Amino acid sequence: MPIENPFQDPLRFERRVPECAIAIFGAHGDLTSRKLMPALYRLAYDRRLSAGFAVIGISRTAMSDDQFREKMQESVKQFSEDTTFDADVWKAFASGLFYVAGDIGDAALYRNIGAKLAEVEQARHTGGNVLFYLSTQPSQYAAASQGLGAAGLGKGNGWRRLVVEKPFGHDLASARELSSRLHEVFQESDVYRIDHYLGKETVQNILAFRFGNGIFEPLWNRRYVNHVQITGAESIGVEGRGAYYQETGALADMIQNHLLQVMATIAMEPSASFHANSVRDERSKLLRSIHAMTPDEIRQNAVPGQYGPAKIGGEDVPGFRQEKGVDPQSQANTYAAVAFSVENWRWAGVPFYLRTGKRLPKRVTEIAIQFNPAPLAIFEDEDGPGSAPNLLIVRIQPEEGISLKFLSKRPGEGMTLRPVSMDFNYGSSFGERSPSAYETLLLDAVIGDPTLYTRQDMVEASWAVVEPIQNVWRETKFDFPNYAAGTWGPAAADEMLARRGHVWRKP
Ligand SMILES: NC(=O)c1ccc[n+]([C@@H]2O[C@H](COP(=O)([O-])OP(=O)(O)OC[C@H]3O[C@@H](n4cnc5c(N)ncnc54)[C@H](OP(=O)(O)O)[C@@H]3O)[C@@H](O)[C@H]2O)c1
Repeated sequence: MPIENPFQDPLRFERRVPECAIAIFGAHGDLTSRKLMPALYRLAYDRRLSAGFAVIGISRTAMSDDQFREKMQESVKQFSEDTTFDADVWKAFASGLFYVAGDIGDAALYRNIGAKLAEVEQARHTGGNVLFYLSTQPSQYAAASQGLGAAGLGKGNGWRRLVVEKPFGHDLASARELSSRLHEVFQESDVYRIDHYLGKETVQNILAFRFGNGIFEPLWNRRYVNHVQITGAESIGVEGRGAYYQETGALADMIQNHLLQVMATIAMEPSASFHANSVRDERSKLLRSIHAMTPDEIRQNAVPGQYGPAKIGGEDVPGFRQEKGVDPQSQANTYAAVAFSVENWRWAGVPFYLRTGKRLPKRVTEIAIQFNPAPLAIFEDEDGPGSAPNLLIVRIQPEEGISLKFLSKRPGEGMTLRPVSMDFNYGSSFGERSPSAYETLLLDAVIGDPTLYTRQDMVEASWAVVEPIQNVWRETKFDFPNYAAGTWGPAAADEMLARRGHVWRKP
């Protein structure tokens, strides 16, 4: 078996973690406070980081190293869900935190970063290894990378890698353009495009479930699978990010990246090994097999939505157009549902329904694989034939697990059937905490394992199927709002499935 990466253990644990500095652009921002710093602290708490480890925070706001440490301590205390804050661990961790202030457009910033890196390398023995993390406005990604390149920081005496937050481009051309700008400084193998869904335990478990067991794979095809539903539902609204959402929309914010990556994981062919490029080759191949629809097909197979005001639990909830920073005539989608088809031998004719939305009744991310019914209904089904199909449900959040739904005989006389469920729950089965997606992904990037990161061809393949939908929606005037806050989305999305004899699940 070829060894692509000497640090990579096929079982993905107990891997050697090299010493390094992580330089975070956007260290004064929301993502650093809520996700990145709690994840890094938790890795330190679990003794997963090497002793030669440092974090350099970068953003415009002036702060001293100590002020940065104080702010990060507050964030870790506030946003670490299940960590008991340990003062000794924090003290050791905080001694490795540093801060550099400056503007991404200013060459002086990179000179200061270079000086800080040299200082940290001396003091903390980071070995010249640097992971740059771009957690700033997407419009700044290329500029930051170019600034690093111009200052000679893209290369050094250790390795240099670049993690890029989402969104990666706003259409196919901009994603290509961004990749080529980054490639002027970092080669593709050193560019880590983050899709935090791929870091979630349950999404990784899809691979274990499918390819570590012999019993499911024979059913995993058009002969047995009727259709697949992938839902990423949020119960909250845009939470002060109205202006961002107005620009981006649910289709680009969720389907283009997270849900299509989940679909690729569910539908990809088995990879020959668990090496980064083997897995990514299969994901990429699947994404490239998704049919890019014509405008006529899009009108039949894609439905946008936008929530209107409603009363939920006795409380008035504003519609999207009433949110702060949103145009009262906005045509932005806060809901999107698409029926994709995969043009390969395994999946021809099996619809993959993807939907996402804000202000739906519940926060839930799940994949439901519906199997074909038994060829002949010889028993009485409590709610009529076909009312309770065989379903395999992979729950990604909030609780993580897998359920298989099937029919069983109701106790007592007669042969009446009732749906029952066989359940696996991650928490109770393993009795231990799952690492957060950011813990997994940060550690992978430090180790140099890009399996769970998105490659250029994957990003481009997903834009290639999403962009035509975006174009049709941009040219169409929709009668928004078309669903009330707190409901499961527009009627047109139900009709889209009804035309094929299917119904959306209400998880
Ligand atoms: N927040 C999330 O939940 C989330 C989820 C997924 C992805 N993301 C992505 O992560 C990235 C960061 O999001 P965020 O919510 O943390 O954004 P944010 O709160 O607006 O923070 C942006 C950060 O970038 C810095 N910055 C902006 N312009 C700069 C410039 N010209 N020079 C230097 N620093 C500059 C800001 O510094 P100052 O504050 O000092 O001005 C701030 O630290 C975005 O790409 C976003 O799409 C965020």
